[in-house]
Order: sequence, then structure tokens, then C-alpha cells
Amino acid sequence: MIFALWSAKYLFNWWRRKIKKEEFEYNHKHQINHSVLKDDKKKQVKFIFENIAGKYDFLNHLLSFGLDSYWRKKALKLSGLNSDSILLDVACGTGDVAIEAKKMGVTKIFGADFSFNMLKLFNSKSKWIRGNNIQLVAENMPVKSGSITNITVAFGVRNFYNIEEGFKSFINVLKQNGKATILEFRLPKNIILRILYKFYFNNILPFIGGIISGNREAYKYLPNSVEDFDKKIDIVALLKKTGFSKIEKYNLTFGTVQVIIATK
Ligand SMILES: C[S@@+](CC[C@H](N)C(=O)[O-])C[C@H]1O[C@@H](n2cnc3c(N)ncnc32)[C@H](O)[C@@H]1O
Repeated sequence: MIFALWSAKYLFNWWRRKIKKEEFEYNHKHQINHSVLKDDKKKQVKFIFENIAGKYDFLNHLLSFGLDSYWRKKALKLSGLNSDSILLDVACGTGDVAIEAKKMGVTKIFGADFSFNMLKLFNSKSKWIRGNNIQLVAENMPVKSGSITNITVAFGVRNFYNIEEGFKSFINVLKQNGKATILEFRLPKNIILRILYKFYFNNILPFIGGIISGNREAYKYLPNSVEDFDKKIDIVALLKKTGFSKIEKYNLTFGTVQVIIATK
């Protein structure tokens, strides 16, 4: 028994040392200077998504055990979209929210993201979005004021370099009574679940994500950003501060994911 424990500990330490060495080599090769990147979230996040775009969909489904599609569908159902809706999917990435909305019968759909490579993949997946896919920053959207009935942001808000400016920009483009639907990770409140969640996010996810995408940094950024967002951002207070009136919150999958629907 003692030998088994000792072996497990030895293997775990060897694995951690291996990861650290690979990280060092990766950073050296790509000349990543973390003190600079941390100071500039916009550059850091854009760099990450431009780099992992090709593997993003596959890893999303794999690492969430296919639950990501369920979360998006659930958020869209809760948002009450219909065939009259004018939808702007912000931080649309490769378009999975917009594609699902289209299946639900929404016809006026726009995608917006600051990553060229993510938008390119969305265009190649769905011919119908071509021409309505805009490269922009969520914090300052060049979209006509009061022209949109619904905004969706799936797993995007946590990545904004200025969340408050992002929400102000949402208020600007939404019509009166328009809705912003936010789908985002959260740390579960239950202590056992939280420990398991953190173990998975901090160890398994960067390991598998790193091997498949060839970019471990990106998959280390994910757990850090979720924890940071959970600790530092009071999303409801921020939505109210920026002008949203009614805010509804729903927890999904044991409180590991949240849907927030804010009405202007
Ligand atoms: C985790 S992906 C989510 C993509 C998609 N919504 C989904 O459900 O799979 C986050 C996306 O947000 C985009 N993004 C992050 N910060 C942004 C910002 N400030 N403005 C516009 N897009 C941003 C990234 O380029 C990336 O495509």
C-alpha cells in the first residue's frame, strides 16, 4: 500500500516537472513574456483564440463531455428568442450559439468577435452568416444604437478586457426591452464539487487541451480566468450599474455553469 502511494506520488511529481519543462520550452519558443501579457488582457486573449481556433470546437466538446451543446441550447431557450428576433451573438467564436439559434427559427443573425481565425471558421461552417460576421471588440461595437432585440454571449464575457465597457456597449445597441443572455462558467458552491471542479480544470483540462491544441498556456488560461471571474466580478451588480433593469439567473449542471438574462 505504502509502495503504491509512493509510486503514485513519484509519478505525479514527474508529470508536473515534465509539464513545467514543456511550458518553459513553449514560452521560450514563442517568446511569451507573461508579465507583459498579463498587463494586456486584450492582446493575450486574442493571441490565445487566434492560436487555438482550429482545435477549439473539438476540444470544447471533448473537455465538456459534450455538455457545451446542451448549455448553449438551454441558454437560448431561456432567452425566449423567436422568428422576429434580431440576434447579435457577441464573442461568437466559431458560431455554435448562432447556428443553434438558426435551427430554432431565428433568421436575422449577426456574429461578432475580435478573432479573425474564429470568424473564418464560423464562415466556413455556415455560408448563411457570410457578410453578417463582424470583426470587432465587444467593448466598442460599431453597431447602430437600439437596433438589436437580443444579444447572446457564450463563454465570452469572462474574456472581455473591460466587462463594464462591454455591458455599456450592449445597452447601446439593444432596443428598449431588449435582452442580453450571458452563458458563463462559475465555481460550484458545494465544497466537494468545487474541489473536483478545480482539480479537473487545473490539472486534467490543461493537460489534454495542451496536448491536442499544442498550446498548454491557452488551457491554463481557462481555469485561471474562471476563478478570477468568480472571485472578482459581481456580474449582476455590473449589469445593473450599466443600465439593465431586470436580471434573471439560472444555474446549470450542479452550478458549474450559469445563464444570466438581463433586460434593458
Ligand atoms: C470561449 S470562446 C466562446 C466562443 C463561442 N461563443 C462559443 O460558445 O463557443 C470566447 C470568444 O470570445 C472572443 N472574445 C474575447 N474577448 C473579446 C472581446 N473583447 N471582443 C470580442 N470578442 C472577444 C474570443 O475571440 C473567442 O472567440
